[in-house]
Amino acid sequence: MHTAYRSPAIALTAQSSADLQSDLVVIPVFTDDDLSDECTLDEASGGEVSRARARGELTGKLFDVLPIATSSSNWKTPRALLVGAGSRNALTADHLRRIATIGGLTARQRRLTRVAVVDRAGTPVSAERAAQSMAEGLCLANFDGASYRTAGQPPSWLETAHVRIAAGGDAVREAVERGRVLGDMSNEARALANLPGNDLTPRAFAERAREIAAAAGLSVDVLDEQKIAALKMGMLLGVARGSQEPPRLVVLRHEPEKAVPGVVLGLVGKGITFDTGGISIKPADNMDRMKDDMSGGAAVICAMAAIARLKAPVRVVGVVPMTENMPGGRAVKPGDILTSAAGKTVEIINTDAEGRLILGDGLWYARELGATHLVDVATLTGACVVALGKTTSGLFGAPDGWVDTVRRASERAGDRSWPMPVFDDYKEQLKSEIADFTNTGGRPAGAITAALFLKEFVGDLPWVHMDIAGTAWAEDAKPYQPKGATGVGVRTLAELALDVLSWGGRNPRN
Ligand code: BES
Ligand code: MN
Ligand code: ZN
Repeated sequence: MHTAYRSPAIALTAQSSADLQSDLVVIPVFTDDDLSDECTLDEASGGEVSRARARGELTGKLFDVLPIATSSSNWKTPRALLVGAGSRNALTADHLRRIATIGGLTARQRRLTRVAVVDRAGTPVSAERAAQSMAEGLCLANFDGASYRTAGQPPSWLETAHVRIAAGGDAVREAVERGRVLGDMSNEARALANLPGNDLTPRAFAERAREIAAAAGLSVDVLDEQKIAALKMGMLLGVARGSQEPPRLVVLRHEPEKAVPGVVLGLVGKGITFDTGGISIKPADNMDRMKDDMSGGAAVICAMAAIARLKAPVRVVGVVPMTENMPGGRAVKPGDILTSAAGKTVEIINTDAEGRLILGDGLWYARELGATHLVDVATLTGACVVALGKTTSGLFGAPDGWVDTVRRASERAGDRSWPMPVFDDYKEQLKSEIADFTNTGGRPAGAITAALFLKEFVGDLPWVHMDIAGTAWAEDAKPYQPKGATGVGVRTLAELALDVLSWGGRNPRN
């Protein structure tokens, strides 16, 4: 198995595009763009840029690409990739991130190891935001999903990347480093989610979490099945009963010296290393996808690694319950009743609604550990995919201000998300004749009743649940997003922690 990603060396430069020494220079092109600030480009291309525009081949349409040779004059880089960037006034950091990824992926397809990305003047994106998102995009391009392939050529990697931004200074340099860490940790989460269930068992997942956390300077505790039993986590143990593999509970802590007083961010991630559905078994079609049912857990682990590396000034505790959901002879059955660590009893109607069970115990534990603000991330419901599709994660929670703080963090991260209602009216669907509530509420509003189940375990803390069932895995390749795990949630959670000073609505960074 070869490595899934590499971190390119990223240098910040203010050089003109002509002076960039690289293998490929990536230049965003806007609609109505005369490229006058990149004035020698047309000459370097031997007039090809003008001709392409005259032919209607260079329109600036978002993510359209035009490769051209730039060998006709004194340009130090022999090729350019012109990437459509839409209207100059409407450029976002997200566009720049994707343009950088397109550039990096194109370079790698051509087995070029050096790439430079240009930030054009006069856009609404600040130099810092541009630097960060371009560095993120370049790292995201340096990911290879075929890590188990033994045949054919090994993948080609970006070795060095230049980020060309007119403005310099410490803040912009730090932004590049922030982008590199966030890009690398997104890739780490993608690598974990791509791992098959036979290699990433709960024990293996916990060991990987330990390594990632230790390398980032986080403190880490791995609780085994005895310790989980001592905590009376009946829901996590109940899900784990059907498997030969024992469960694990990973607890990570970020305790910086300079932290905002009185705040502890609690992050909880779903760590189902494979979801067969259990006794309520899933159909065979696409069941292989369920190896990524630990994407939320991977997002929490990798976000915390980024948070530690970037020294976010906030205390954070991460909790990731890990287990398989299997239909073994001792598996939990429909009709069984489980008692949660919080003491509430749950009648199991469908064993495939397992994520909410392990998260309920995880959320309870994050509270026990002193969390003051909660966010959980989970590939929780097919219903959320029906509601919001494959581009937008669902946000559920209260109060609205906390939901919006998380939403804004996701927007900065390029992880789109949108709020959904969690009205108490829906709670009727979780009524049990025999226990406190059931674990499923039927098909109507399936994503919302799942969230209402989680709400039973968060007490009165500010809490957001992010349903990433639709966004964790890309089914169709896009120019900026190959098929496979996306790493969604990593940058959202890290941006949220980095932004702790504006949680009250003050000092928004964007
Ligand atoms: N892991 C699945 C949710 C899922 C579905 C993620 C599709 C990604 C793509 C979850 O554990 C599950 O099976 N949910 C059930 C809940 C139902 C039984 C109430 C679902 O959504 O069908
Ligand atoms: Mn399930
Ligand atoms: Zn699941």
